[in-house]
Amino acid sequence: MKKSIGACPALFPMPVQMIATYNDDGSVDLMNAAWGGILDSDLLILSLDSTHRTSDNIKKRKAFTLSIADETTIKESDYVGMVSENLFPGKFLKTGLSASKSEKVDAPIVNEYKLTLECEVEKISDDEMGFFVYARIKDVLVDESILDPKGKVDVTKLKPIMFDQFKNGYYSLGEKAGQAWDAGKPFLKK
Ligand SMILES: Cc1cc2nc3c(=O)[nH]c(=O)nc-3n(C[C@H](O)[C@H](O)[C@H](O)COP(=O)(O)O)c2cc1C
Repeated sequence: MKKSIGACPALFPMPVQMIATYNDDGSVDLMNAAWGGILDSDLLILSLDSTHRTSDNIKKRKAFTLSIADETTIKESDYVGMVSENLFPGKFLKTGLSASKSEKVDAPIVNEYKLTLECEVEKISDDEMGFFVYARIKDVLVDESILDPKGKVDVTKLKPIMFDQFKNGYYSLGEKAGQAWDAGKPFLKK
């Protein structure tokens, strides 16, 4: 029997997207964002609280990088989602993570993350619905350690973490369960 749990953001898994931007003085800010995702092959969206420093930085620089948090950076990635640069200036330095300037967009790349999307802001929609950032993916940088012999990203090497909105847990990736556009093939023959 099914039970109603009310209207809530009941999607799982949610990504743990690490958004890096430059502050006014050129220092780095980093925040954790689960709400957002891919809209098209080179277009993504973030749903941010407009009071975040990240939102201010994005409005000013029209750019950010988005990295996927993994098991090796779970403490750092969670910490920057707990405190705002507005109240805890220098929070990025405190994590011990390091950053380099992107060559494609006006935003920092956090060196320790293994998969990073370099994004240029296309449009910001700030109204009663929320603060939504639409951005073009200009390039994607991957650490060679997560590539398979054919040069494709191997998510089992990336070891991404996923966010569970029901109980605020972070989860690791499980076993591969099947192949897309292939697992359903038996029905084509019926
Ligand atoms: C797991 C997790 C997911 C989060 N997802 C979002 C999100 O999607 N949008 C958002 O505005 N804030 C989200 N936050 C909160 C921000 O990361 C947090 O408020 C952060 O301190 C903002 O930093 P800033 O003010 O330095 O930009 C999330 C935090 C955590 C821990």
